[in-house]
Amino acid sequence: MCGIVGIIGGGPVAGQIVEALKRLEYRGYDSAGIATLEDGRLERRRAQGKLRNLAERLEKEPLAGHIGIGHTRWATHGRPTENNAHPHASDKLAVVHNGIIENFRELREELRGKGHVFATETDTEVVAHLVTEEMRQGKGPQDAVAAALPRLRGAFALAFVFDGYPDLLIGARQGAPLAVGHGEGEMYVGSDALALAPFTSEITYLDDGDWVVLTRDGAVFHDANGSIVKRTRLRSQASAFLVDKGNHRHFMAKEIHEQPEVVGRTLAHYLDMSAGAVRLPFELPFDPAKLSRITITACGTAYYAGLVAKYWFERFARLPVEIDVASEFRYRDAPMPEGGLMIVVSQSGETADTLASLRYAKENGQHTLSVVNVPTSTIARECDVVAPTLAGPEIGVASTKAFTCQLSVLACLAIAFGHARGALSREAEAKLVSDLIAVPGLLAEAIKSTAATEKLAHTLSKARDVLYLGRGVSYPLALEGALKLKEISYIHAEGYAAGELKHGPIALIDEAMPVIVIAPSDPVLEKTVSNMQEVSARGGRIILVSDNNAMHEAAVNVEAHLVMPDMAPDFAPIVYAAPIQLIAYYTAVVMGKDVDQPRNLAKSVTVE
Ligand code: AGP
Repeated sequence: MCGIVGIIGGGPVAGQIVEALKRLEYRGYDSAGIATLEDGRLERRRAQGKLRNLAERLEKEPLAGHIGIGHTRWATHGRPTENNAHPHASDKLAVVHNGIIENFRELREELRGKGHVFATETDTEVVAHLVTEEMRQGKGPQDAVAAALPRLRGAFALAFVFDGYPDLLIGARQGAPLAVGHGEGEMYVGSDALALAPFTSEITYLDDGDWVVLTRDGAVFHDANGSIVKRTRLRSQASAFLVDKGNHRHFMAKEIHEQPEVVGRTLAHYLDMSAGAVRLPFELPFDPAKLSRITITACGTAYYAGLVAKYWFERFARLPVEIDVASEFRYRDAPMPEGGLMIVVSQSGETADTLASLRYAKENGQHTLSVVNVPTSTIARECDVVAPTLAGPEIGVASTKAFTCQLSVLACLAIAFGHARGALSREAEAKLVSDLIAVPGLLAEAIKSTAATEKLAHTLSKARDVLYLGRGVSYPLALEGALKLKEISYIHAEGYAAGELKHGPIALIDEAMPVIVIAPSDPVLEKTVSNMQEVSARGGRIILVSDNNAMHEAAVNVEAHLVMPDMAPDFAPIVYAAPIQLIAYYTAVVMGKDVDQPRNLAKSVTVE
């Protein structure tokens, strides 16, 4: 999960590379670097920390050069220091890398035995020396790269420039995304179309195993065997304008407040509002009536969206659902049902574990459908059908609007499958669609109640541990709430099925630990109320997220009540996501944390 970019320009490229890296910072931001060829000679500038440190370095020590590569890093091997920052170089080349070289240790020993001296702790430096060794044996840059690539194991994307070759840039892709941008007398390579959007919207994605030779005249694509191949040239929709924060302090705040709009836009893409029916905007290459089971897999917040969807597919479509986190599923060697459906959920569409699980499902005869926010992503391009979320670019590392858009798409799919399987009457479908149509307005209402949440944040910021409880479709939301708080405030938090409280976690209850209970007025409310009374009886501190009716039913003292609008309980997770997100957001702000780029994280986890 690093960002890489390369440019063969018509003029100085350092500024363009930094511009592209700004758009890739979501992929990692613990160090950054750039290399260009000045009069054919390689020059590097690197800096620890955020990209702005590199930009400041370049102000003081500018780089000329009309060809170069750049990198923004999320450390996998080697501490996030300037010395470990990319590009890594030898006397013959510089290289930037996204991904992991799994066999770097054995290669490093082999190269040391040939006299190569290593200056860093990184796996990437091995690539620089491996290609250099091939060149020392007399190969030109292209042949040297072609000879080195098959020796690398792991998932990676690479970009090289070569000392003395001012019109040559080579890119390679194995498991991590890489795109070529076509300019006028300029050529580009980058981790995604967003990075290249300021320069071109003409994009070609490399397939796995491809490598590409760029000169100012264009690109020549090679497959893993070295044969020259054609790859489709697309017009990218990525916005040329760097997404900005509007009048919000953080991208996360902006994206939370965008939810009524983007959820509304996503629902409109799937619903026929006047007919009160779901109208999927794509053909299904399978008959939902013939499905025996759905498997859902994803990571993090996307997994929690899938977990909510499990309840919906089982309830509306009477379809059994197996679900697992992708990092577990991919290694389970799970038996798959004949003609089953795998649904993968991913904001970025590049998450390595989710992609691997998708590939496992395809190898095992499953139909595959992805719910993604990037329709040109690897996951989107490798599955049978894409169900897009229309959340727009999500820059905050903590996923918010993508989550509620994922839920919106999954709700529509569950209703559509229920209709196709005869499990939903026309009236039942119309009722569910009407309930969904109300969601954007309810979300707007839920987001308005931020005053209580801001006040609560001061209390939570002092907590060492926080417990989230929920039942039914609110249980995955309890898990998501705990993740949100953990990942941006660094407070330890745990989500639990409310019914499980008495099987152990109740031992945690004391006046030091806030318990956040998510309790819409749904069929299991009275059970959740019992759990709240169990907490209250032990001096626990309850923070209730519910409508007024549930508050009345609870009849317990609460430390705070975040009042939600009355609504159809089936889709409460889409609306109740807002206070859950805002609790985490305001707590992290009170604590002075880096809300948009929390420590140790990256937006897209393209490595295992
Ligand atoms: C969510 O707030 C996290 N940033 C993380 O769990 C994320 O949801 C997960 O890495 C999956 O990413 P994806 O949706 O791009 O596949």
